[in-house]
Order: sequence, then structure tokens, then C-alpha cells
Amino acid sequence: MIGIVTGASSGIGAEFCRALDSKGLECIWLIARRADRLEEISQSLHTPCRVITADLSTPEGIRTVTRAVEDEHPDISFLINCAGFGRFGKTWEVPSEDTSSMISVNVSALVEITRACIPFMRGGSSIIEVCSASAYMPLPELNVYSATKAFVRSFCEALRIELKGTGISVLEVSPGWVETDFIQLSVSGERVPEKVFKHTVTREAVVAQAMDNLRKGRRRSVCGSYNRLQVFVCRHLPSIAMRVWNASLR
Ligand SMILES: NC(=O)c1ccc[n+]([C@@H]2O[C@H](COP(=O)([O-])OP(=O)(O)OC[C@H]3O[C@@H](n4cnc5c(N)ncnc54)[C@H](OP(=O)(O)O)[C@@H]3O)[C@@H](O)[C@H]2O)c1
Repeated sequence: MIGIVTGASSGIGAEFCRALDSKGLECIWLIARRADRLEEISQSLHTPCRVITADLSTPEGIRTVTRAVEDEHPDISFLINCAGFGRFGKTWEVPSEDTSSMISVNVSALVEITRACIPFMRGGSSIIEVCSASAYMPLPELNVYSATKAFVRSFCEALRIELKGTGISVLEVSPGWVETDFIQLSVSGERVPEKVFKHTVTREAVVAQAMDNLRKGRRRSVCGSYNRLQVFVCRHLPSIAMRVWNASLR
């Protein structure tokens, strides 16, 4: 039995690797671009690891992962799709290559890797798709990012129904702001007010809560009471949520 984690080189993905370390797996596949960081994580775990260096913004990078799964027929206990990134800025100001990479990593890679893994999963195994609280509301200045996460949210909902009766669970993990490199990388030169990043939680809290919710058979994991309230408001009072977001940008 193995675990597969994309975005394993830092932040939430690296924390998920630590959470899988106690699951008695034969191997954890660690996937991202930075081989040195993946090696470091691999050395820190007790479980044997396989480092797969792949740029998931490219079709070749995605194929590196899907081909490894299809050729080797591993018995997959956990699939955790965590690779992803965002970019602040108005839709037409974000460089087009960043926009298409965002769609590839956040959406195409997640879908392709999930579809490649499902035939090699059985009852009791789990798919964790790392989504975002931004999936619950269109976000001006993070438009494409929030749209990719709205896709992931929708994908999880329907996949869960498709997998009914197989014993394979699907957990959507939708954090608000988390203390990782993500925030710095997403700002990338834009002037974003500090107050946007209020109510930041730790990666440890996000992953501990996700693993707890997985055990309880929940469909969604949102870490922190402020973020749970935010998701609730976005779902039921979207115009208020939009006003709060727009005010925070000013
Ligand atoms: N931090 C937040 O505030 C926050 C909030 C909500 C949701 N999330 C979601 O959480 C997930 C993890 O983000 P994080 O917060 O842990 O940020 P992070 O520390 O920046 O981690 C992002 C991970 O994605 C990988 N990645 C990015 N681009 C890639 C590419 N082209 N090919 C392969 N791997 C790539 C990175 O690896 P390499 O750079 O080594 O390739 C890294 O391992 C993302 O899906 C993000 O959307 C984060």
C-alpha cells in the first residue's frame, strides 16, 4: 500500500507527508519540482519514499506521474493532491503564462492524477483534494485562482457520488489563509494590504483537522472557526462575503 502526495516539497503537502508517515505504508511517492526539497522531506520520514520530480504545469510533467501509476499498478491507499499556487492581480495584469500554469497545476494535474489513480484504489482508501475557501466565492484580484478552486470543489462533489459504494472516500480540504510560502508567492510584487491575510492558520492545524475529518468520514475540512464562518456566509449570503473581500483589498 502506498501514498501519493503532490506538492510534497513544502507547506501543507509536506505536512501531509508527515501525517502519512504513521500509516504503515510501504512507500510514499513525493511529487513536486524541487528535488532537493523532496529529498529532504524523504530523509525526515520513517516510511520509504520515492521522489518524483515533475512540473505539473506541463502535459509531460503530468504524464510522468500518470504513466508511473499506470505502468506500475500500485495499491494506492492515499492520494493527496496538494500542488497548487495562486497569483494576485487583475485578470488581465497577471502574466498569461502564470494564468495557464495555474489552471494546469490546480485543475488539469489534479483531475488527470485522480483519474489515473482511482483504478488502483480499493475500499478504505482515500482521496484528499486540497481546495480552498476561495472556492466558495469569486475573488476579484485572485480571480483565476478562485475559479480553479471552484472547479476543484465541484469536481469533489460529483466524484464522491460517482465513487459511492466503492468504499473510496473523497475529502475536500478548503483552508483560508495558511502560513506557507503560498502567500509570498501569490503576492509576487503586487501591493496587497496586510489585513487581507488576517485569520491565518498553521499548516499543522490544517492537516491535523483534515486527517481527523477523514477519519470521521466528513466530505469537507475547513480549518478555523473564522474560516468556517466565512465559508458559511459565502454559501448562504454571497453578496455580503463579496463586500467584505472587496473592502479588505482597499
Ligand atoms: N497557503 C494558503 O493560504 C492556502 C490557502 C488555501 C488553499 N491552499 C492550497 O494549498 C495547496 C498547497 O499550498 P501551500 O500553502 O502548502 O503552498 P506552498 O508551500 O507554496 O506549496 C505549494 C506546493 O505546490 C507545488 N507546486 C507548485 N507549482 C508546481 C508545479 N508547476 N509542478 C509541481 N508542483 C508544483 C510546490 O512544489 P515545487 O515548487 O517544488 O514544485 C509546493 O510543493 C495549494 O493547492 C493551495 O492552493 C493554500
